[in-house]
Amino acid sequence: MSAPLVLGLAGFGTVGTGLVRVLDQSSAALMSRAGRPIRIKSILVRDPSRPRAAALPPGTALTTCPEDLTDDAEVDVVVELMGGIDAPRKLIARALANGRHVVTANKALLAESGNELFALAAARGLHLGFEASVCGGIPVVQTLREGLAANRVQELVGILNGTSNYILTEMSSGGMPFRAALARAQELGYAEADPTLDVEGADAAHKLILLIRLAWGLDFPFSALPVHGISGVEAEDIRYARQLGCRIKLLGYARLLHGQDFGMEAGVAPHLVHEACLMAGVNGAYNALRIQGDVAGPVFLHGRGAGALPTGSAVAADILAIARNALPNNTGFVRAPVRAVPAAQSVSPWYIRLRVSDSVGVLRDVAAIMAANGISIAQIIQQDGGDGGAGVPLVVMTHKAGADGVRTALRQLASAPMVHRPPVCFPVLPLFPPGQREAPEKE
Ligand code: NAP
Ligand code: HSE
Repeated sequence: MSAPLVLGLAGFGTVGTGLVRVLDQSSAALMSRAGRPIRIKSILVRDPSRPRAAALPPGTALTTCPEDLTDDAEVDVVVELMGGIDAPRKLIARALANGRHVVTANKALLAESGNELFALAAARGLHLGFEASVCGGIPVVQTLREGLAANRVQELVGILNGTSNYILTEMSSGGMPFRAALARAQELGYAEADPTLDVEGADAAHKLILLIRLAWGLDFPFSALPVHGISGVEAEDIRYARQLGCRIKLLGYARLLHGQDFGMEAGVAPHLVHEACLMAGVNGAYNALRIQGDVAGPVFLHGRGAGALPTGSAVAADILAIARNALPNNTGFVRAPVRAVPAAQSVSPWYIRLRVSDSVGVLRDVAAIMAANGISIAQIIQQDGGDGGAGVPLVVMTHKAGADGVRTALRQLASAPMVHRPPVCFPVLPLFPPGQREAPEKE
């Protein structure tokens, strides 16, 4: 029998214990695919006395010393599942410098310092696997890098954060309050150690940056990405969205702009998604990614986006690829000539919810502000009844309008005397991706 592939595992929390369970549960399948056993020699933790969700595999030692992984000549692969930035960056850089392959699920680190680490890996002819860093158990990295290698990607749209999707689903179907749903997502192991990364959209943004790098080779700086999370979504918006035949989903998006040479818009924001879209039916901690290829057409990936076993499955796939020497050490990034277009130039239909005085001329004044900013109104829902001084809700759905005009209109509305509180505004996802026609395509 061939010599085992020896792992040094950093982190024995949700994903670390998930990996240990996957390696145990799937050992026969992995053994037959890898042609060699996979063994964990040591596991790095902060507190060895903590109870764990998986038993320590026989012959595996717990350690608090990173060098027990990075500097051990017997370790072939360092698997980083700790989270954070500084400690994992040091660990991965040292592991690569010492000639170890690396697998990580750390999207925050790769979004921030991926280039430096990928360059280090490529220079040493080593693998740096990151399948688990985007969309948990869904093989999105492999799909973009290999399955769709013949395509120029036109658009990526996805539910990229399981925690936010879980919270929105619970608020929508069970009427659970935001805080309670977040606490449950934390108990279930979906949330980041700092859950503001989930609910304020940064985690989805980190994943989007990795997807953009995979699809177009563009290093989209985090600071240039417009990022809005779900903390501004209220139960009222969820109810109105349903009334409009939609669901609210936190989406990451990146798309090439027609008529603009190599221009690309990207961002993360809650969207209204029409219930006819597959994306609207993606619930709980599930993630989905819609990829529009120029030759493959639309591809829709759906699966568990967070949690111990799904993420452990993706980590195990990278380990297996290293065991078979099948992971491209140059990451497979393409370099397409694309440039980021400022968010103010993006165009979309919009949902705008206002709380306004219930008095004569209010609709006229709201419509006048919209018109002055070039925004055409598609639909209005006005709540009936006296306002008792607190105002009444007014929901405006617009036709396609530029983000800069909408932003100006929102500022003007916020300071208008008939508007009682800052407006809430979300884009609406178009039913069809760019280039896809409503009618079935001819081959
Ligand atoms: P977690 O449950 O908090 O586990 C982190 C583990 O790393 C713990 O065992 C902790 O040790 C150890 N650790 C953290 N910092 C350390 C340090 N400086 N030195 C030594 N050990 C350290 O986190 P997780 O949810 O498994 O997430 C791990 C990584 O996977 C993160 O990058 C996350 O973004 C990513 N990820 C998570 C999921 C998910 O569903 N949770 C999905 C995809 C990707 P102690 O236990 O002793 O404190
Ligand atoms: N916190 C992340 C999420 C884990 O909820 O999607 C998976 O990356």
